[in-house]
Amino acid sequence: MNLLDHCTVLITGASSGLGREFARQLAARASIMVLVARRAERLESLKAELERPGLTIYSRPADLSDPAEVEALIGWIAETGLQINFLVNNAGLGDHGRFETADWERLRQMIEVNIIALTRLTHALLPTLKAQAGAAILNVSSVASFIPIPKLAVYAATKAYVTSFSEGLRAELSASGVRLTTLCPGPVPTEFGRVAERTENPEPVEAVGGLYVPPAKVVADALHAVECDQARVVPGWKVALTMAFAAAIPMAIFRWFLNRRGRA
Ligand SMILES: NC(=O)c1ccc[n+]([C@@H]2O[C@H](COP(=O)([O-])OP(=O)(O)OC[C@H]3O[C@@H](n4cnc5c(N)ncnc54)[C@H](OP(=O)(O)O)[C@@H]3O)[C@@H](O)[C@H]2O)c1
Repeated sequence: MNLLDHCTVLITGASSGLGREFARQLAARASIMVLVARRAERLESLKAELERPGLTIYSRPADLSDPAEVEALIGWIAETGLQINFLVNNAGLGDHGRFETADWERLRQMIEVNIIALTRLTHALLPTLKAQAGAAILNVSSVASFIPIPKLAVYAATKAYVTSFSEGLRAELSASGVRLTTLCPGPVPTEFGRVAERTENPEPVEAVGGLYVPPAKVVADALHAVECDQARVVPGWKVALTMAFAAAIPMAIFRWFLNRRGRA
């Protein structure tokens, strides 16, 4: 049986964008879904939309930038005895603008959500995942993890962590029954860009319209990659081609482009 059929899945960042799409695409197949994000009303309306006989949905509001709330979530999972066999570490946020003018609290939250919460949830749930007949982790990284990006310097660095951590852990888990796939999307039309934009002194974001991949395609490709036990997936051929081209450019030349963008 495919491990996504009748799975018990935990999805972080389920109130919007890719996380909500993961919930929608998995609703027909999962037996139990745990939806996590801060906006409780969004989780409740998604739960109401997706409920069907044979599917139990828990909506768990939690601020993943607060380590105490992450621990409370882990404690609740242990108390309820849920046998999670699919962990989708999707919650994340960006901050667009120069590092020196960034709000420290926002950078701290980004590091907490993108790195610490993802790592902590993976660490806490790994024993449960390993105890299942088949289990998987899907870590949502970004193509930003492959290249440093001026004005998204901290965000790109958090995603570089996610991709590196995921590849290392996948190797550690290769002899176990736990699969690990890293999803590296390019631009996706979600709330991400608006959230990343600063309210004070916003800086214009470069248009990348031609590279946009719809959330439904990103999520379908990601779930297919999990089913095929693929290490990494970059949805959309234009994005994949662009990244392959960027990877072939010598760093000294690439740095010249980065410096131009950094000065702009
Ligand atoms: N969209 C893109 O272009 C793009 C490209 C590459 C990678 N990604 C990655 O894809 C993932 C999903 O992003 P998206 O595009 O779907 O963006 P989105 O629409 O803004 O969704 C982000 C999700 O993360 C949750 N989240 C943010 N801060 C949180 C916190 N402190 N505690 C709990 N949940 C929190 C949000 O929920 P609440 O606000 O309700 O808490 C929301 O559900 C992220 O990891 C992002 O880095 C996105």
